Amino acid sequence: MTKQLGIASDHAGLELKRSLIEELMKHSVVVRDFGTTTTDSCDYPDFAHAVARAIKDGEIEYAILVCGTGVGMSIAANRHNVVRAVVCSEPLSARMAREHNDANVLCIGARVVGIGTAIDIVNTFLNAKFQGGRHATRVAKINP
Ligand code: RB5
Repeated sequence: MTKQLGIASDHAGLELKRSLIEELMKHSVVVRDFGTTTTDSCDYPDFAHAVARAIKDGEIEYAILVCGTGVGMSIAANRHNVVRAVVCSEPLSARMAREHNDANVLCIGARVVGIGTAIDIVNTFLNAKFQGGRHATRVAKINP
């Protein structure tokens, strides 16, 4: 991965985000944190939009978004044409999301999965490769 990986959370995802950053740094992955930085209550769309804009501007290629369920983050991020965000709570979906759907944003629910599963999901997502071919034809049809 040549470009930086973005990561963001709201207050509900902060603790898991911090653990994921720690884990990624162990593997020398450069991560850019788009916030939040405190446990004060905040609004997940602010962070999802900031990350989506960075993808659009070519500053980052992939991102991880963490909120309570991953759902709000994915809905907000997917409002941007350049984003293909998926919520995953197990590694198989994370791998298929990369291989078949060329997903570029992984959303995780901190109230849904534990740290061990979250690390598995993130590693699987980052190591999987888009397969192209017939999947590229389908991905090209996603934006109406
Ligand atoms: C915050 O309470 C919660 O609504 C948020 O983290 C997220 O789960 C929304 O989808």
